[in-house]
Amino acid sequence: MPFTKIIGSGSALPENVVSNDVLAQQLAEKGIETSDEWIVTRTGIKQRYIADSHIKTSDLATQAAQNAIKEAGIQVEDIDLIIVATSTPDHIFPSTACIVQSKIGNKGAAAFDVQAVCSGFVYALTTADSYIRAGNAKCALVIGAETFSHIIDWQDRSTCVLFGDGAGAFIVKASDEPGILSTQLNADGSLHTILHAEGTICHGKVQGDPFLRMDGQAVFKKAVVSLEQSALEVCKKANIASTDIDWMVPHQANVRIIQSLARKLNIDENKVVITVDHHANTSAASVPLAFDVARKDGRIKSGDKVLLQGVGGGFTWGSVLVQM
Ligand code: ACO
Repeated sequence: MPFTKIIGSGSALPENVVSNDVLAQQLAEKGIETSDEWIVTRTGIKQRYIADSHIKTSDLATQAAQNAIKEAGIQVEDIDLIIVATSTPDHIFPSTACIVQSKIGNKGAAAFDVQAVCSGFVYALTTADSYIRAGNAKCALVIGAETFSHIIDWQDRSTCVLFGDGAGAFIVKASDEPGILSTQLNADGSLHTILHAEGTICHGKVQGDPFLRMDGQAVFKKAVVSLEQSALEVCKKANIASTDIDWMVPHQANVRIIQSLARKLNIDENKVVITVDHHANTSAASVPLAFDVARKDGRIKSGDKVLLQGVGGGFTWGSVLVQM
């Protein structure tokens, strides 16, 4: 059975950077109080990238995909599987993956979306790995892309300061050399109300609350416990200790969740990739965005063992352990 090897990555961010101070000023004009000090202390977030309302998730996804394709040195027609992880798709249908396929100029690859909120990218990468190991695909484009700013209630200070927009993409290929070593996905649907955007369209009208709502403390506690358990399981499956991991690339929601997780796993903080300060929480895009930053700046190198982890609405969580 072949391995699944990451042969390229790419990312994309909207042009508009909004610092905490600028956001606090914008909210103050609407009578909503927040501060850089509150946001940094509670979350580690210093700024976020916000897409204009005409920018769609597929625009960011396509840019990230094109950067990954270029880095991998493949032809667009080599891709036989396209998976986009997103909870902010362009349309109800067709899938954002099909829109991206059209924009990059690929024809014939299987293309579909995966919806697991902030765990979406590890769900999508695990799906691509399963296709490749089973011999059903040879070269996959896996993308995490979101425009969460479009589903945020900008009157709700407990959520609107937390999120940003962006996209990250991997090209993964069948290989005889080790790549993805183990994967682990989980969900607990009974917790669907602690993080949700439950509105839907019915008879041409929005029914229910269209905005993201979150019980922050419940999510925080569940995230730390789930990610620790998931990390230990993927390490056990690959027969390595958590201390053998060279780089940890967890979902970027809150620096306190990440630090607490690293402590529990006995992983040195210098081995943890943190981009939440710059990107804020970009949901399904956060893991591939953070990975791409650490790969491009030379931290993640060939041969390194990297732990990718997602956690989010559903409630969902999961891990992918990969050798570069
Ligand atoms: N600015 C100033 N004050 C605020 C703000 C704000 N932006 N937001 C809330 N507050 C106030 C609250 O009103 C409250 O005031 P009170 O004490 O007078 O009632 C106080 O700050 C404390 O609020 P808490 O909600 O208790 O704050 P907490 O310390 O729990 O931090 C946070 C909130 C940052 C959201 C935290 O709970 C968290 O990070 N949770 C996890 C989020 C997460 O990981 N999400 C990932 C999944 S995302 C996905 O799947 C899409």
